[in-house]
Amino acid sequence: ASGCKIGPSILNSDLANLGAECLRMLDSGADYLHLDVMDGHFVPNITFGHPVVESLRKQLGQDPFFDMHMMVSKPEQWVKPMAVAGANQYTFHLEATENPGALIKDIRENGMKVGLAIKPGTSVEYLAPWANQIDMALVMTVEPGFGGQKFMEDMMPKVKEVFDFGVHWLRTQFPSLDIEVDGGVGPDTVHKCAEAGANMIVSGSAIMRSEDPRSVINLLRNVCSE
Ligand code: DX5
Ligand code: ZN
Repeated sequence: ASGCKIGPSILNSDLANLGAECLRMLDSGADYLHLDVMDGHFVPNITFGHPVVESLRKQLGQDPFFDMHMMVSKPEQWVKPMAVAGANQYTFHLEATENPGALIKDIRENGMKVGLAIKPGTSVEYLAPWANQIDMALVMTVEPGFGGQKFMEDMMPKVKEVFDFGVHWLRTQFPSLDIEVDGGVGPDTVHKCAEAGANMIVSGSAIMRSEDPRSVINLLRNVCSE
């Protein structure tokens, strides 16, 4: 896809120095920051919430785009706090709400862009009815909960079909929709995402573990944009 954007996930960074880690990513050419919020209920892990986002916004200034990946059971609860804290996009899970329409409206009224995420086992068909009302679809390529997992389609061939077909179908039906992939994406897997039609690439450990994050970010962007 042309104009691919790269959003490092800071989940596997040095969380005691989160602000510095975010700055390091921005200095290395990150297009945006993908911030993973986990509540220990929707997923079996806990990260951070809106107070940390507020501190990051103060430290990093107004420019960096914060894509909040809300892996939480009650996404309705955090819309306003995240908007006040300085989030730019609120990406919630379709599996976590009974009423996506109301949530989309609330996110917009709070001045944020809307992202709608699905886990690997959820078909893109369920996302389609909302696709005209959202800014971005996030198709997960691992079960959410932890960084550093292996890209799904490498494990199960069946998942490859579902992923390729699903993302490609979304791209065809909704040409201007941003499509983000997240989980196990790095130099070895990014082409699969790009071929399917993704244009926003989240990458955590592949960037964080590198001694030269700038070159990894550039590589991901170049491969994706081919
Ligand atoms: C997984 C998170 C991802 C993850 C990405 O639940 O949503 O953002 O941390 O990290 P890697 O690229 O290491 O899979
Ligand atoms: Zn994420």
